[in-house]
Amino acid sequence: MIILTICSTKGGVGKTTLTANLAGLLADAGQRVLLVDADIQPTLSSYYPLAQRAEGGLHRLITAGSIHGAISRTQIPGVDIVVSDDPEGSIENWILHTPDGRVRMRYALRDLERYDIILIDTQGAVGPLQDAGVLAADLLLSPIPPEILSAREFARGTLGMLERLRPMGHLGAPVGHLHGLIYRMDRTIDAADVASTLRRATFGESRGGISILSTVVPATVAYREAATARQPVHRIERQRRGPTASALEVMTALVNELLPHIDLEQAGEPCQAQEGLRHA
Ligand SMILES: Nc1ncnc2c1ncn2[C@@H]1O[C@H](COP(=O)(O)OP(=O)(O)OP(=O)(O)O)[C@@H](O)[C@H]1O
Ligand SMILES: [Mg+2]
Repeated sequence: MIILTICSTKGGVGKTTLTANLAGLLADAGQRVLLVDADIQPTLSSYYPLAQRAEGGLHRLITAGSIHGAISRTQIPGVDIVVSDDPEGSIENWILHTPDGRVRMRYALRDLERYDIILIDTQGAVGPLQDAGVLAADLLLSPIPPEILSAREFARGTLGMLERLRPMGHLGAPVGHLHGLIYRMDRTIDAADVASTLRRATFGESRGGISILSTVVPATVAYREAATARQPVHRIERQRRGPTASALEVMTALVNELLPHIDLEQAGEPCQAQEGLRHA
């Protein structure tokens, strides 16, 4: 089982969209996926319609350190979710004032045997809840739109956050390798310049634990249309004309690069055939 946390200290870079679409593709490939919405604003929680809602959610996972009664089912077969529920707005404070607050989610998730992969979506702002999401991960994935302000925030904010958390390794919660993903790429010269600067950067102290993936996710309307349709994007855009790769091709390339042990062949088949396979 692998725990992958999608994180960035900048808001609005594409974390939730990326998390939901990765989950959809992995589940269509036969992986058992658990999503964790570790953002106080519950965007991921409503991305896919729920088939069955559990009584508890993130609050229970963090404070009780238990997944019991905290896992809901989405309508995407194979995708479960811990929804974000923080009715009193108290989670951040609770984590801050509890000695092991930042690692409870890590330990609660590590014992889960019924999933192949857990994807944690985090909030785009530094804080104890983001720390908890990062410290739970085996691997980190950070979308970076290729424009200068996002690239700077990645180099300063996201990498600074990792450096701050690294000493947690001595307490049994080592920070995972971080993969930067050039995300929402457009066809301007400026975007190409920023992307190539990111690829050449050595990222100072943390360079050993950081790399930029060769897969690039383009800015296209399919990702927004898929969110509107509440469907994984690879189902919506399987083919595409012109020079830009289709969402199915892009998301497949991303998983092949990030999680090479996973066989995606099944996910490339049309959805109805997949439903048939699943029920066979
Ligand atoms: N590949 C893409 N191409 C074009 N637009 C995209 C793409 N991916 C995401 N978007 C759009 O970018 C916006 C921000 O995406 P998203 O909400 O996933 O970011 P986020 O990092 O989770 O934000 P927050 O920090 O607020 O949680 C959304 O309007 C989304 O539809
Ligand atoms: Mg989000």
